[in-house]
Amino acid sequence: MTETRIPLAGVIGHPVAHSRSPRLHGHWLKDLAIRGHYIPMDVEAGNLEQVLRTLPKAGFRGVNITVPHKEAVMAITDQITDRATLIGAANTLTFKEDGSILADNTDGFGFIENLSRNAPDWDPAAGPAVVLGAGGAARAVISTLAEAGVPEIILTNRTRARAEQLKLDFGQRVTVADWVQAGNVIEDAALVVNTTSLGMAGKPELRVPLDGLRPEMVVTDLVYTPLQTRLLREAEEAGCTTVDGLGMLLYQAVPGFERWFGLRPEVDDAAREAVLA
Ligand code: ATR
Repeated sequence: MTETRIPLAGVIGHPVAHSRSPRLHGHWLKDLAIRGHYIPMDVEAGNLEQVLRTLPKAGFRGVNITVPHKEAVMAITDQITDRATLIGAANTLTFKEDGSILADNTDGFGFIENLSRNAPDWDPAAGPAVVLGAGGAARAVISTLAEAGVPEIILTNRTRARAEQLKLDFGQRVTVADWVQAGNVIEDAALVVNTTSLGMAGKPELRVPLDGLRPEMVVTDLVYTPLQTRLLREAEEAGCTTVDGLGMLLYQAVPGFERWFGLRPEVDDAAREAVLA
């Protein structure tokens, strides 16, 4: 029997109104002339399992998962990719034909793809990466940097215990520095990554001393509202290669879109504009 149902996908969060994914997937569906829909769904934790079991029957091919369900959803799904297991969270679910749910995490892919496309001269083996922050986003970044062959990952976080936990989870490549030492460890970095929420609109500014930035460094910020954070501004002034965080949002969405709708979408200026609109 030919599949005639219009393919559906979406994003589940609570709340979900802030999510930019519907704009991005909506843009790609239009751009690729696919008759499909991508729908935001506000689902409370208590209803998550029931919703996930119902959606495939309604024609959904999969969903993105956002805050606050990225960790909890792992207990509901049937299969988990290695990278989602390593990160301890899932952002992309695929509903398979046999009725099972596959959980994946594409945040690390989005991070490294954004970095390698926009800082093509960055060599993972060139030297240490300094990662600011030790939350969920840091887990995706650290596991991906380790996999890419970065020799040393220097982790610094306001709450040192969280950084120590990541060291336990990700092994000997990770060293931990005090948050008050962040300015000093940056001096040794080949790559600097901000994974904290500092610098985001409505949050305090990142106040780490940045006089250690030098032109041969690559600096990226996961914050994308605003696109130009203090970190990226100062890095640009110091002559560093800078990469903003919007690309990570775009690239992490690519694998899900391709799995659900069958075509690989373009990460280009039009996609950036669609997300920012
Ligand atoms: P995410 O999953 O997006 O990474 P998170 O788990 O809440 O979100 O982590 C937020 C990160 O920003 C953490 O590293 C947090 O530091 P703590 O572990 O000490 O909370 C960091 N962060 C948030 N507000 C901060 C502040 N005012 N000063 C320093 N770090 C801050």
